[in-house]
Amino acid sequence: MSRTYKIAVIGGDGTGPEVVREAVKVLKAAAGRFAFKLDLQDFDFGGERYLRTGELLTDSDLNALRRFDAILLGAIGHPDVKPGILEKGILLRIRFEFDQYINLRPVKLYPGVECPLKDKGPEHIDYVVVRENTGDLYCGAGGFSMRGTPHEVAIQTSVYTRHQVDRCLRYAFQLARRRPRKTLALCGKTNVLTYIYDLWERAFHEMGAREFPDVKREYYHVDATCMWMVKNPEWFDVIVTGNMFGDIITDLAAITQGGMGIAAGGNINPEGVSMFEPIGGSAPKYTGQNVINPLAAICAGGMLLKHVGEERAAEAVEQAVMHVIARKLKSLAAGRMGYGTTEVGDMVVEHVAAGSAA
Ligand code: IPM
Ligand code: MN
Repeated sequence: MSRTYKIAVIGGDGTGPEVVREAVKVLKAAAGRFAFKLDLQDFDFGGERYLRTGELLTDSDLNALRRFDAILLGAIGHPDVKPGILEKGILLRIRFEFDQYINLRPVKLYPGVECPLKDKGPEHIDYVVVRENTGDLYCGAGGFSMRGTPHEVAIQTSVYTRHQVDRCLRYAFQLARRRPRKTLALCGKTNVLTYIYDLWERAFHEMGAREFPDVKREYYHVDATCMWMVKNPEWFDVIVTGNMFGDIITDLAAITQGGMGIAAGGNINPEGVSMFEPIGGSAPKYTGQNVINPLAAICAGGMLLKHVGEERAAEAVEQAVMHVIARKLKSLAAGRMGYGTTEVGDMVVEHVAAGSAA
């Protein structure tokens, strides 16, 4: 019996639709080679629809998305919409509504990619950040008082429950256990955030000692984490952290693996509907020019395949991306690849379709 996956495709804003188109081409090539089927449906959520109709995500949009095995997202962010509206109303809304409590961000430097870190190569940069994706400063708790007056007060509060922390830690420990180095680093700030990261640290050691004695535990403050990610990235295997620190350190991590042209992530609910995306933005200034790098979106598609259980297809996508980077591209930067967006997609497709011989 053939496997069929229902995938919701949200191109979104700016260059999002262009990169997602390439990722979909690659998914189709993988489906052909590995004998599974894709049932794809496009959704037009994003800045254009919001400006036209005032709608961000309606209840019926959310109900529609619930019927899918996974979601592939391009990018959300429009120059004519005030920052925060589309992010909160679409991207964060999907993360929260579907309780996608893990934001998984692999950090891997592929051979041939120029790394901004001196003397570091692919053997030094191969780790995964497990960013908690539902709590922290992202929970929306806070407000103003006396807004616009000289005495204005603004409060924005970080919130974590033990349940949120535990489920994220368990995912991270399980992931670390499957990797050769079996090392999990908690990134926190126990010297200042003495409530939030005290909770994380206690939960980390309790769970580690009780359920994962085979996984080595390390702890780093977030500021030091940034330093070591630059100085000694080879120290890291799996890093687990809260939502805000995870957001920040994964941009730093992304630039060490070649930048937004390659960095992908998954918003994962292991029991529900997960969403995969290139972690860069909508890059509006490049829209429609066929210069943006689609590899991050293609890698997000690869993560999606792995998530739905098509491990071999996911592996083939990664191999194809590595092949194209090592043999073809001049750079990962938009406009400097030596090829257009669609040509890069075509080269990956060709390699996925043909296997390692291409
Ligand atoms: C990311 C982005 C989002 C975040 C923004 C667009 C809301 O920066 O996915 O890392 O902060 O999570
Ligand atoms: Mn971010």
